[in-house]
Amino acid sequence: MAEKVILAYSGGLDTSVAIRWIKEKYGMDVITLTIDVGNSKDFEAARVKALKLGAIKAIVIDAKDMFVKYFIWPALQANALYEGQYPLATALSRPLMAKLLVDTALAEGATTVAHGCTGKGNDQVRFDVGVHALAPQLKVIAPAREWGMTREETIAYATKHHIPVPITKKSPYSIDDCLWGKSAECGILEDPWVEPPDDVWTWTKNADQAPDKPTYIEIGFEKGIPVTLNGKEMDGVSLIQKMNELAGLHGIGRIDHIENRLVGIKSRETYEAPAAVVLLQAHKALEAMTLAKDQLRFKEKTAIEIADIIYNGLWFSALNRDLSAYIQSSQRFVTGTVRVKLFKGSSMVVGRESPKSLYNLSLATYDKGDKFDASAAVGFIHLWGLPVATQAQIQLLGDKEDPMRLIDAAKPVTKGKKTKNGKK
Ligand code: ARG
Repeated sequence: MAEKVILAYSGGLDTSVAIRWIKEKYGMDVITLTIDVGNSKDFEAARVKALKLGAIKAIVIDAKDMFVKYFIWPALQANALYEGQYPLATALSRPLMAKLLVDTALAEGATTVAHGCTGKGNDQVRFDVGVHALAPQLKVIAPAREWGMTREETIAYATKHHIPVPITKKSPYSIDDCLWGKSAECGILEDPWVEPPDDVWTWTKNADQAPDKPTYIEIGFEKGIPVTLNGKEMDGVSLIQKMNELAGLHGIGRIDHIENRLVGIKSRETYEAPAAVVLLQAHKALEAMTLAKDQLRFKEKTAIEIADIIYNGLWFSALNRDLSAYIQSSQRFVTGTVRVKLFKGSSMVVGRESPKSLYNLSLATYDKGDKFDASAAVGFIHLWGLPVATQAQIQLLGDKEDPMRLIDAAKPVTKGKKTKNGKK
């Protein structure tokens, strides 16, 4: 009996060719697995196509709920943003796909899993590391990394074996999408000086074509997770879809990024992530109100770590587990509502409220009702400034080599007379 392989199947040219190529090269029986993480594609058509191309079985899994619950929300709670720009859509979906490939391989008695990644990107790392972590006994094959065919040769191979080559005018870009965002690379985008042409953007309107009136939305969070939109309870998938639509309509969520791939390449990528951009902004605004200053600072550093972990394919690492326990703990009081204004390509937080707010009006106000004890400020400032004053007296005021010339700053502005400052 032939060995079985589970192939992560998108329905596109490369993975379609891979069905045939794996059979030919490895003599394995191919079972395809197509995973719905909120991509815009026809999953039933992909299933039928896989069977037609020789797969012995074609499985489709709707993984949207899992994706939101176990990957997107934890990333949002962490404020994970790679290099300050990329909300990590693709990077979050790959470990979930690796997990489902492994589950399916074990259920189907397969020895091997396969994916369509090339050897130049990050996705191969995320798949391979994920599978090796979860099931070290499984082999991984990556046809497009192994076969060394150019695009033309792949098309020729497809034509020879009656594999349909998409006749619709193919997008000049390499696209990947899921609930948390869409990425585009290649083509003219490879010139970093060229502004992304209009046809790159399919989820978001140009700001100049966005509505002339702003839309105000209210996002309700429960322990750092969005649970309501405009007061209405919503499941995560619907909430993200609705936010993509609303913010996209206002031209929000476009990102143009020169990013550092794990494999050492700098690449220019564009993203559309309307929901992610607005939800991250709103979540941070609620944290600003419910977390203390030191928690916010520490969490910011952790966000960078977690973004790197996700980007670099280390989702299943122990460090990610450890940090996620910290993140969960940090979110206990991040409950409340944030009001956001969407208008002409930008979103702005214009209101926030929380039952656990640390904002205290009687401390902050300059009006009546002020409870802040200003007389305590004098003693506080005396101690706060003590080390600065001490050091200035002993070292800085007399120092002619002080590059900041503190001595000059201390000189009275009287003409003619020399002062004896610093020479006490
Ligand atoms: N550069 C992004 C990342 O590494 C997007 C990758 C998109 N993947 C793809 N196969 N087109 O996460």
